Amino acid sequence: MEFKIAVIKGDGIGPEIAEQGIAALNRIAEVYGHRFHYEYVPAGGAAIDEYGDPLPDFALEKCKQSDAVLLAAVGGEKWDDLPVTQRPERGLLRLRGELELFANLRPAIIYNELKDACPLKDEIVGDHLDIMVIRELTGDVYFGEKGGDDTRMYDVMNYSDYEVERIARVAFDLARGRSGRVMSVDKANVLATSKLWRNVVTKTAQEYPDIELSHMYVDNAAMQLVRNPRQFDVILTGNIFGDILSDEASMITGSIGMLPSASLGASKLGMYEPIHGSAPDIAGKGLANPIAMILSCAMMLRYSFDLEREADAIENAVKAVIASGARTADIAGGGSFISTDEMGKKIIDAIK
Ligand code: IPM
Ligand code: MG
Repeated sequence: MEFKIAVIKGDGIGPEIAEQGIAALNRIAEVYGHRFHYEYVPAGGAAIDEYGDPLPDFALEKCKQSDAVLLAAVGGEKWDDLPVTQRPERGLLRLRGELELFANLRPAIIYNELKDACPLKDEIVGDHLDIMVIRELTGDVYFGEKGGDDTRMYDVMNYSDYEVERIARVAFDLARGRSGRVMSVDKANVLATSKLWRNVVTKTAQEYPDIELSHMYVDNAAMQLVRNPRQFDVILTGNIFGDILSDEASMITGSIGMLPSASLGASKLGMYEPIHGSAPDIAGKGLANPIAMILSCAMMLRYSFDLEREADAIENAVKAVIASGARTADIAGGGSFISTDEMGKKIIDAIK
């Protein structure tokens, strides 16, 4: 099959990990007989430097015309003095909004061989941990009105019923292929938006009698994630809570450098990115872990292209390479490690 992929290399370690993701895709194309066409698109800090805009209109257009968007990472200290509405991150948020990618899937899976990297005690983690955080991505305080003056600023938090309903459906559908349990996380004891959230999620769940739905306040969820992470399977939550809880969940797995994400909307066009940032402090040193990026490519194959076998092939290659003992610096626990390129090459060689 043939697909058009818009690639945003972005900033910091972005270009070096993007290169590894593309090499993995090229290997898949070769082994399984597909054709991937890459269109490089400027966004983030690099686009501010070149075009004075974190997402120039032509870049957005190119993304809209592709079958999927692959984004490495955007942002960095260099652009820290800009107001929030002009920062590199704004390009990412605008992309999510304009492409209506309302469903963000963030799997946090612990690899047995990497259990030493997990900061929690063995008995807390057990021998298996597989949590899927489903974060609403185009609403909430991220997209509400902003304003104020030098002495008082505000960011409006709001949710409409249809926004909650559509993300709840994504969570329930996904839970069907897993344990059937969904934990919805909100702050319904304080926030009006959360009250609506809880009501709509509960009402939508009536159409999914096979799903076991529970609710938890976000502060408690933050605690429970480190106290007893195994109680969670699918976590359904809003934009800002999901941002925070997914970082927390990722750390339980040992390294944020391992975790991919998919941002999906109503159509097949999705955006795929590692959940980590641009890590400018290690950029260009060969220290970055390319695994989150490579696994994001696997999610792209699965969710946008329906290439399940090919997605499995990448995930199995990553597992095999981890099992073989190969480590990048972030997961080496102070031991010996290989470079970004070497890790990428090992995974590519393991793709069957
Ligand atoms: C994430 C990031 C982004 C977010 C930033 C870079 C805008 O933290 O994808 O989790 O807050 O959504
Ligand atoms: Mg985040």
